[in-house]
Amino acid sequence: MEGKCKENEIAAIADIYQSFDPAAYLQNNYTSPRADFGRKDSIVPWKLACFHRAFTDGDISGELLVDIGSGPTLYQVMSGCEVFNKVLLTDFLEVNRQELKGWLQDEKSSLDWTPYFQHVCKLEGRGPSAVREKIARLREVVKDVVPVNIHLPQPVSPDVLPQGKADCLVSCFCLESSSPDLATFTKAMGHISSLLRQNGHLLLIGALEESYYLGGPGVKIPVVPLNEAQVCASLQETGFTLIRLEVYTLPRDMSVGVDDVTGVFFVKARKN
Ligand SMILES: C[S@@+](CC[C@H](N)C(=O)[O-])C[C@H]1O[C@@H](n2cnc3c(N)ncnc32)[C@H](O)[C@@H]1O
Repeated sequence: MEGKCKENEIAAIADIYQSFDPAAYLQNNYTSPRADFGRKDSIVPWKLACFHRAFTDGDISGELLVDIGSGPTLYQVMSGCEVFNKVLLTDFLEVNRQELKGWLQDEKSSLDWTPYFQHVCKLEGRGPSAVREKIARLREVVKDVVPVNIHLPQPVSPDVLPQGKADCLVSCFCLESSSPDLATFTKAMGHISSLLRQNGHLLLIGALEESYYLGGPGVKIPVVPLNEAQVCASLQETGFTLIRLEVYTLPRDMSVGVDDVTGVFFVKARKN
């Protein structure tokens, strides 16, 4: 009975996602002030710095990086694409997969990602002339954009990972914004962990104390409000050892009426 109820709640969120608007989402979250590269306290530069640090610590290596719930965004693999020769992007929605494929094929894109590449090149100590190279590198290493459902014990189709498991998983703002409650969030973490090899790394970014965000005009998507202790407990329960937890507190002017997020966490963890 309880299982059926949970299934209905998951299905209700999936229904709301059918109205997700990639262009509006990108506009809300990936333009100024949230992506102001001239400001140290802007959220996107903070996220890019976290990824840069995580991938240059020297402990992450392997062949395959998988990003879970990529949405219509690319920032989350801009550092990792230098370490991995194969990157797999995934999303639940066809509109988001199409958005990513449009950029990969250099056809159409709802957002100009160039300032993002410029910023990450700067973090890597490379000059502006490296931007084209980096764009080409990302297009080369992304091998596919495939469907994912974190609520299934096997979140991606088995033929997508013919060589076995991923060496590293990235996931940003996906688990908490697709789950009705903390227990389902934790269960989904367990599901995605099954895609990762033992001792592989998980880089997880998520919202703190958020109860909703807008996935488009009037598309209010419920979110599990999380605190740091809950994130750490979920990681422990699903067999991860925490390496680093960083927290960003949202400056007042980053609250732009598209969600009620108060902060963001970044986790680097290793699968036991
Ligand atoms: C808040 S967006 C995050 C997008 C992107 N990762 C980012 O950093 O902005 C949440 C994403 O979760 C995806 N999603 C929704 N339900 C899902 C499910 N059951 N399994 C996997 N992903 C799901 C949505 O399609 C959406 O792209």
